[in-house]
Amino acid sequence: MSKPISSSRPSIVTELPGPEARRVIADDQKWVSQSYTRPYPLVVKRGSGAMLEDVDGNTFLDFNAGVAVCSTGHAHPEVIEAIKRQADEFLHICAADYYYPHLPALGKKLEEIAPGDHERRVHFGNSGAEAVEGCAKAAIYATGRNKFIGFYSAFHGRTLGALSFTASKNVQRRGFGPQVLDVTHVPYPNCLRCPFGKKVENCGVECVKFIRDTVMETTVPAEDCAGIVLEPIQGEGGYIVPPQKFVDALVDLAKEKNVLVICDEVQSGMGRTGRMWASDHFGLVPDLFSTAKGIASGMPLSATVARKDLMNWHVGAHASTFGGNPVAIAASLKTIELLENGLIDNAAKQGEYLMEGLRRLQAKYVNHVLDVRGRGLMVGMELVRTIDGMEPIGEERDRVVEEAFKRGLIIIGCGASTVRFSPPLVIGSDDVDFALEVLDESMAAVFTS
Ligand SMILES: Cc1ncc(COP(=O)(O)O)c(C=O)c1O
Repeated sequence: MSKPISSSRPSIVTELPGPEARRVIADDQKWVSQSYTRPYPLVVKRGSGAMLEDVDGNTFLDFNAGVAVCSTGHAHPEVIEAIKRQADEFLHICAADYYYPHLPALGKKLEEIAPGDHERRVHFGNSGAEAVEGCAKAAIYATGRNKFIGFYSAFHGRTLGALSFTASKNVQRRGFGPQVLDVTHVPYPNCLRCPFGKKVENCGVECVKFIRDTVMETTVPAEDCAGIVLEPIQGEGGYIVPPQKFVDALVDLAKEKNVLVICDEVQSGMGRTGRMWASDHFGLVPDLFSTAKGIASGMPLSATVARKDLMNWHVGAHASTFGGNPVAIAASLKTIELLENGLIDNAAKQGEYLMEGLRRLQAKYVNHVLDVRGRGLMVGMELVRTIDGMEPIGEERDRVVEEAFKRGLIIIGCGASTVRFSPPLVIGSDDVDFALEVLDESMAAVFTS
């Protein structure tokens, strides 16, 4: 067993990257696809709780959790114990061909915690993209339709099917030609930058009217539309929280037009927002939804969760060799237990505390912080050149993130100009205090230099 990281506070003892990190990065550049987006040279050796240690002995406070994945913190002892116990039994047998108790156990649990009281069926995969594609396949199969409506700034993954839904940044699409699925994108309700020029006071939910009156009347007839694919809180697009009336109007439209509502809870689910699902904040009960990331504390696992009547496909219609791996499911069952036994509540509590602190920074950097928003520990702080002009400042945002890294805080960006906070759900208020301190110094370094 690896030793716990000795300090509970970051300590930077070498230049960054240190000598061993530089060696690993050189090897990476030689042998590994360079399509990965790395914001700064963090080379991880081990983690525990919310702390990470790099290969040179530097320690960091992790406010990203491997992009909203390590929900129970790094190497939670009970999750590790569950993984070890399962590893002693068997590592793999293939759900596509054989039965094992883990699949129905997690399927039952997911039905129990899913929004609403539908009977559900679950298909297991390995990644978020796979779970999104599972939703799309199930919706096409069940409805006999093949058009979809998605949202600008949405991120649903990079495999070819999921990429059809992704409309976050053009680097994700550039060079890949026509899309596989027929998805029409519409504006997400980013009310601070309403594409219909409305303010909260005079909003008539024009973004849903646009779907009804323009999209469904021109390119996507409702009778050809299998579903509307929605992140209930947008993740990569900038941690954007939609207004309740948008969700209500969208659900009403979907019901009226008999179109499925498909939620992508890959980033926003599994307790991150202080409720089990972001959908729960809006009373939203999706027909189908995808979940991954935080589902198994870092083990690769995802699930497509469908209303039971929407997952009646023929034998052989959909399966995966590794999807629903027993070790990953053992980690997931333990993860969900820990979430239900305190970590979701902690996410709500620490999220409030973090947002209060960020609002103090907003008051301090009044000309550069447009917005502090989120739910639970899915929190974003949008930076701009000037409050009046509201121009995004991606470069300065990236510098803030880098300055934080140099000081021992792990954060990354999202959207054009937002700093994202998605720490493990185990953090305490002292961790938040430290993060705010580092952020303040990092913003000072960028905005007053
Ligand atoms: C909302 C959402 N959906 C899907 C994905 C894709 O997940 P994966 O990278 O596991 O394929 C992501 C990843 O960031 C995501 O945030």
